[in-house]
Amino acid sequence: MLTSEQLSVNEEGHLTIGGVDTVWLAENYQTPLYVMNEDTIRRHCKTFRQSVQQYYGGHGLVCYASKAFCCKEVYRVMTQEQMGVDAVSIGEMYTALSAGFNTEHICLHGNNKTKEELQFALEHGIGRIVVDNLTELSVLNQMATEMKKTPRILLRIKPGIDAHTHDFIRTGQIDSKFGFALETGEALEAVQCALTAKSLRLAGLHCHIGSQIFDVSPFVLAAEVMMDFRAEIRRRFSVELEELNLGGGFGISYTHEDRPVPLEEYMKAVSQALKKKADEHQMSVPFVLLEPGRSIVATAGLTLYRIGARKEIPGIRTYLSLDGGMTDNPRYALYQAKYEAVVANKASLLRDEQVTLAGKCCESGDLLGENMMLQKADAGDLIAVLATGAYNYSMASHYNRIANPAVVMVADGKARVIVKRETLEDLIRNDQ
Ligand code: LLP
Repeated sequence: MLTSEQLSVNEEGHLTIGGVDTVWLAENYQTPLYVMNEDTIRRHCKTFRQSVQQYYGGHGLVCYASKAFCCKEVYRVMTQEQMGVDAVSIGEMYTALSAGFNTEHICLHGNNKTKEELQFALEHGIGRIVVDNLTELSVLNQMATEMKKTPRILLRIKPGIDAHTHDFIRTGQIDSKFGFALETGEALEAVQCALTAKSLRLAGLHCHIGSQIFDVSPFVLAAEVMMDFRAEIRRRFSVELEELNLGGGFGISYTHEDRPVPLEEYMKAVSQALKKKADEHQMSVPFVLLEPGRSIVATAGLTLYRIGARKEIPGIRTYLSLDGGMTDNPRYALYQAKYEAVVANKASLLRDEQVTLAGKCCESGDLLGENMMLQKADAGDLIAVLATGAYNYSMASHYNRIANPAVVMVADGKARVIVKRETLEDLIRNDQ
């Protein structure tokens, strides 16, 4: 019944996560509070890894897309789970490095990597750089030559697939700021430039068709398009690129309306399509990279809020005002994203009231959900918004000078702070 995993309700009627009472968490660590379940994250990593073993004979690497949730502890977990990571900025690379993450297993993305970022990647031996455009290709080649390095690169290709998802997060089609278009010949030109570049080693191709996708067919189609392009490259340049990065985008269940495809089904369909294309073109099956972000961390998380006030507008709606909102979770304001919620200290009661969860920012659009059926709640009660592990903490802002909440990790029935709550002093730290 609950979309976040490993949730239950204890004898006191309190919601628990990974065996830890959320009421206790709120009292001990204050609210708003992000809570992540380590076991769920690790389980998702294992499922992906085992699946790569099963469908590609281990000839592949799962790179966690750390934009979904980035802090030192998550990179430590990824190291232990033998995952690679996808990083998109110097900030993410720096965080990974400071957590001792092996740079060889980092894949660097970005449609406008700065020279500082490229230099950092070259200096620290970042394992793969996914090149987005011709300018970057030439800048990187020049920098690598000067620094006497030969980075392994992939080229980001737009396979031209409509992945039926929210417009803001659809990136595979031709009108996208990411990557080289196939239709215009730009992608082939990029391959030629990369192959002749003195200091670049072109290892393969990359595509990412969008996020929160609930259908296997666009993934299969993208894999086929990429394999056809790989065959064309061999025909024209007599090289068989060894790697193919198929990106992330696997949908998860935020509410009961969401029907994610089981990973099995995706892996089976895509690996079969790759093998079929490899046979058709008499080519090898490439080393496959995957970049799941949301599907690794989203359902591992929940956010706890304290209700400050209850506002009934007769005949219209009832607002519950929370002590957080769009600053810790901008996804409703940005995408009208739907979540499920529970009154955490009354979790065993019936859901017999329709309410709207309002954030505390000076914006009417600062809501976390509208017309949700919840247990009857009042000021002082706790609200848990579920499945907030991805793109919440990582997209948090300081709007209204609101400090970012702490992140607590639960494991084995215990809790530990993995990101401290920001203080007022933190908020003015860089002010002159
Ligand atoms: N690889 C690349 C190149 C990406 O751009 C992304 C996500 C991923 C992998 C991971 O995708 P995932 O498995 O998490 O779907 N802020 C939005 C999501 C933006 C996704 C951006 N790229 C949201 O809150 O829904």
